Amino acid sequence: MKAVRIHEYGKETVLHYEDAPLPETGDDDVLIRVHAAGVNPVDWKIREGYLKELIPYEFPLTLGWDVSGVIEEAGSKVTNFQKGDAVYSRPDIARNGTYAEYVAVNSNEVALKPKSIDHNHAASIPLAGLTAWQALFHIAQLSQGQRVLIHAAAGGVGSFAVQFAKTRGAHVIGTASAGKHEYLHQLGVDEAVDYAGVQFEDVVKDVDVVFDTIGDDTLERSWKVLKGGGHLVSITEIPSEEKAKAHHVKSDFLFVQPNAEQLGEIADLVDQGKLQTHLEKVFPLEQTKDAHVLSQTGRVKGKIVLQVIE
Ligand SMILES: NC(=O)c1ccc[n+]([C@@H]2O[C@H](COP(=O)([O-])OP(=O)(O)OC[C@H]3O[C@@H](n4cnc5c(N)ncnc54)[C@H](OP(=O)(O)O)[C@@H]3O)[C@@H](O)[C@H]2O)c1
Repeated sequence: MKAVRIHEYGKETVLHYEDAPLPETGDDDVLIRVHAAGVNPVDWKIREGYLKELIPYEFPLTLGWDVSGVIEEAGSKVTNFQKGDAVYSRPDIARNGTYAEYVAVNSNEVALKPKSIDHNHAASIPLAGLTAWQALFHIAQLSQGQRVLIHAAAGGVGSFAVQFAKTRGAHVIGTASAGKHEYLHQLGVDEAVDYAGVQFEDVVKDVDVVFDTIGDDTLERSWKVLKGGGHLVSITEIPSEEKAKAHHVKSDFLFVQPNAEQLGEIADLVDQGKLQTHLEKVFPLEQTKDAHVLSQTGRVKGKIVLQVIE
């Protein structure tokens, strides 16, 4: 099969579109014929070696951990899927990924894809969607009427977070540069803050939840916008417990986990017309280098996808 693999860590030039063996499928795995693979910032972070202390990858490594496709084969212990099922997944990040014609995924990490959208759109959802879902609903336990500040609301994770928060009846404040405010309003924000034009902490007060997708200075300046008892959830760095205590708030770091049940709930929202996904650009698999360069600009609106089948 064709795959995009790396044989060493480095810049986008280490990405090679090449022949690769078909993935080996375990008894609990399904072999998915990949129709489309989503691109996420973690892909180029892994390519550059950011996670090498955490996960001992072996080369060559196929990148990409978002997929929409069709089951080609099911392992002997798989009872929940069969050949021909259209599925989507955010597979285990420690295994070879989805920038390929086929990927082997544990069937517990797979859900039926939303029926109302094509594979390109479905492939853009799992990783960023699960991240937003787990941060807002499982960690912060966001509830009706609460106020939530979502940083980088126009990004991959932020776009889903805004829409999920609205389904819970929260008051949503999103940050983005002014040119993306129309998009934020389409997503459903109640207030859009131009983080480049104002200091967000000067105009945002008394929020119950901050969802930090940026880190560094943005995280540091976020403590003061929380009300007492509020909750800061970061997906970019571990927030300081001392600072959380000093501000009388809770804090957590999230590293997204695969979850088929949650993907099923997200697929239902899509099919009910309550969740949209915006594709900034679709590249053919051969042009993965260009997709990484675009992702690394940090300016993407919505998602980038690699189309594997025409
Ligand atoms: N821990 C985990 O499990 C996990 C999971 C998913 C993602 N992440 C991490 O979370 C981060 C966000 O991921 P993503 O997929 O959403 O990234 P993304 O799609 O690349 O985010 C791009 C967006 O960020 C916005 N942005 C950049 N700087 C900003 C700032 N200072 N304030 C507000 N918005 C800003 C940009 O809007 P403008 O053009 O308007 O600036 C752009 O729309 C990445 O670092 C990623 O690696 C972690």
